[in-house]
Amino acid sequence: MTIYNVGYLVGSISSTSINRRLARALEKLAPQADLNLSDIAISDLPFYTVDHDGAIPAEAAAFKDKIEASDAIIVVTPEYNRSVPGVLKNALDTASRPWGDNSFAGKPSAVIGTSSGAIGTAVAQQHLRSILSFLASPEMAQPEAYVQMREGLITEDGEVTDESTAEFLVSWLKAVHTHIAKSLSPVS
Ligand SMILES: Cc1cc2nc3c(=O)[nH]c(=O)nc-3n(C[C@H](O)[C@H](O)[C@H](O)COP(=O)(O)O)c2cc1C
Repeated sequence: MTIYNVGYLVGSISSTSINRRLARALEKLAPQADLNLSDIAISDLPFYTVDHDGAIPAEAAAFKDKIEASDAIIVVTPEYNRSVPGVLKNALDTASRPWGDNSFAGKPSAVIGTSSGAIGTAVAQQHLRSILSFLASPEMAQPEAYVQMREGLITEDGEVTDESTAEFLVSWLKAVHTHIAKSLSPVS
């Protein structure tokens, strides 16, 4: 089976982020789905402005290079006020420009997120799908993944303590693998 290199963005820069925990868990489980996950940091990106289009800041250029070098992108995001956090939107805007140099174009993607609430980031993910779709990124429609976090479910270093949750995450990662393979295969 082809092993794909997948970059992931965490839509939270909180030092105690539960989405960062989820991302670490996915990184650990990924080899079971023939995926190699690596973090693409968004915390050091400057706020995007069209002023950058003529002279892209070094951090933004490095960020765009990492997205373009990845076979696919996973976005692990919290929900802020029923949408995506501003830091994540800034990263997506940065990747999308300058006009004609959209790093997400044709890049397969998948979204997942966790919250302590029962609705578990569903609305943020819907907004995110809309953005990725506009960016011409083939995003995985199914299976959806809304992880309700509870105390101790995932440890600080990304160990999943509940077997059924770990099984679900591996099955989701396997679906991501299938989605990447389909998206990258040449049209006959
Ligand atoms: C500004 C703000 C807005 C929030 N809005 C939502 C929301 O709309 N839906 C939700 O499920 N949780 C919401 N939360 C709670 C987050 O799910 C919770 O803070 C979570 O821990 C954030 O993820 P993180 O720990 O990865 O940063 C909000 C939290 C903050 C700080």
